[in-house]
Amino acid sequence: MLSALLEERALPPLRAREELLEILQREIYGRMPAAPESEEFTVETKVIWRFCAGKAVCDRVTARCVVNGRPFTFPFLVTVPTAPGPHPFFIHLNFRQDNPDRYMPTEELIDAGFAVLSVCYEDVSSDNDDFTDGLAGLLFDGGVRGPEDPGKIALWAWSAHRILDYAQTRADQLDLRRAAVCGHSRLGKTALLAAATDTRFAFAYSNDSGCSGAALARGTTGETVRDICERFPFWFCENYKQYVDNEAAMPFDQHFLLAAIAPRCALVGSAAADDWADPVSEFLCCCAAAPAFPGGFPCPDRLPGEDEAILDGRIGYHCRPGLHYFSRTDWQRLIEFIRRHS
Ligand code: GCU
Repeated sequence: MLSALLEERALPPLRAREELLEILQREIYGRMPAAPESEEFTVETKVIWRFCAGKAVCDRVTARCVVNGRPFTFPFLVTVPTAPGPHPFFIHLNFRQDNPDRYMPTEELIDAGFAVLSVCYEDVSSDNDDFTDGLAGLLFDGGVRGPEDPGKIALWAWSAHRILDYAQTRADQLDLRRAAVCGHSRLGKTALLAAATDTRFAFAYSNDSGCSGAALARGTTGETVRDICERFPFWFCENYKQYVDNEAAMPFDQHFLLAAIAPRCALVGSAAADDWADPVSEFLCCCAAAPAFPGGFPCPDRLPGEDEAILDGRIGYHCRPGLHYFSRTDWQRLIEFIRRHS
């Protein structure tokens, strides 16, 4: 059954990882900015009093980068269990600085034995078409972009790489073999790109990322390339616009993004009532990416139920009832996925 559904989508075949990354950067996200010329981190420790009843310490870290000869700084929070490590950890690209946050149940993550490093995405670059502020301001002369210059998703993904640089300085507490990057919706798209372009991440998790994230564009019943390019053209490179109402001409589809994470582990999460992100197109994207992952995607030959988790392969998928939201159920399934593959 699934092979017939995939055939209908008429997807371009997968290629070697380097080619996937070249196509994805050229056609959709733009070229990832280079690593900074230099970088250092300043740490203010124990910024939340008695955090998690003493089970964890929360530090505020400032990344101090030099990009194109000019300084660029951004803050992030690092919450690490006080129990002896090293601990598996999440780099969570989030919408707010709050810790905990409605999308980040920090104490539960700590109780599960995980550390979490979280960044508020707009501390890196604004979520709009202004390419003169934040990191964008150091990359583009006068804010004008060429066809392959990065959009905001690539800039946010770059910040996850910097936070991982920081994690490497705390290898006694953070288990670098179990580094995960995760995010919800636009930041789920970002988490997938961050993992695809940096093999230091062992795990990637996209929550309800939908169009231009984990959902196939061809045959979607949710958001289309036209929808997203009309409202959020600044998330992508200029080249992406040529595929508005023209998905069939794309030399890629979103299974390229998942496949570029292989042979590492990727989990895609959907919400059953999130028609805009299109759970079926997210599931079929995992099926289409399967050949890139050792062991493939071990799933039954049917569409998943609205409360089902398929976690045994290095590409995994789960759907839960409810709306577009990064819920505790999603986190619990992500934790289970990482445990199974550690
Ligand atoms: C909009 C957008 C989606 C995006 C979502 C979000 O709905 O169309 O592509 O994922 O915002 O980030 O919340």
